[in-house]
Amino acid sequence: MDPFLETTGGLWYKTLVELMDGKRIAQTIRARIQEEVHQLKKHGIVPGLAVILVGDDPASVSYVTGKEKACAEIGIRSFDHRLPASTSPESLLQLIGHLNQDPEVDGILLQLPLPKGFPERQLLNFIDPEKDVDGFHPVNLGKLLLGEETFLPCTPHGILKILELEGIDPAGKHAVIIGRSITVGRPLMNLLSRKGAGGNATVTICHTGTPEVSVYTRQADILVVAAGSPRLVQGHMVKEGVVVIDVGVNRIPDSTKKSGYRLVGDVDFDSVAPKASKITPVPGGVGPMTITMLLHNTVLAAKKRMSTRGFQTEGLI
Ligand code: GUN
Repeated sequence: MDPFLETTGGLWYKTLVELMDGKRIAQTIRARIQEEVHQLKKHGIVPGLAVILVGDDPASVSYVTGKEKACAEIGIRSFDHRLPASTSPESLLQLIGHLNQDPEVDGILLQLPLPKGFPERQLLNFIDPEKDVDGFHPVNLGKLLLGEETFLPCTPHGILKILELEGIDPAGKHAVIIGRSITVGRPLMNLLSRKGAGGNATVTICHTGTPEVSVYTRQADILVVAAGSPRLVQGHMVKEGVVVIDVGVNRIPDSTKKSGYRLVGDVDFDSVAPKASKITPVPGGVGPMTITMLLHNTVLAAKKRMSTRGFQTEGLI
């Protein structure tokens, strides 16, 4: 069965709504990144990504495994650091310090959320901004805010790429984002409202302090939901023709599945899809794009390393 039809559990959506196939878009972009990796290797550079996972949160384990697999597929070397939740913040700082110095490591990713009690911000701030392929360091977030070139956070960047490759120009549109996280909502708000290609939208951001979210979602031309709440957005909360980007990945119990669960988004697909002009499925929408933009940032970091060694990187991109 077509994986999308299986995902959505129905046959008729495909004729009424256009699914934005993140997996297909990701494959196209990854083929280009793979070629860049190939070119770098000719110059003796193997891009390297260090991934740090603390604890055993099932969603995080699954994300990190996906990232490592994707690296292997396109020839990026990944350095895997899976640590128990009992790890001390001091030893985590020490590890980051070591990775900052390691010449084989171009990018460092600290998987979030960290288990309770870890000083998340302090740890992120300690990552060398030149290796901050997540784009979460204050220097890189500041550059993003100023519109300067930097590592763009992977999920917002992936969303911009989906819109671009689906031919949706946010300019002049009302984009409504639910969720104000540093991983998605806040950087995306800036990217969609900036002056220039892929921006120029009027952006509203809703969050847990918004009294009546549906007042805003009903006005959205583009609706991005990154709330971490299964099926939060229902059909009656959107207008006809809306473009919907569902960032949520939630596990809900399902006794018909071998694993005992299935994945659903933050959007109730069954009631929203019939009203939407385009929608991303879960899984197979935003997720593969997040990983792809991480690969992109890692190669970008490797190219920077190469240029500091005096290599000509022009023409490699
Ligand atoms: N957890 C969920 N999304 C992300 C991400 O983009 N980067 C990191 N480091 N952790 C995450």
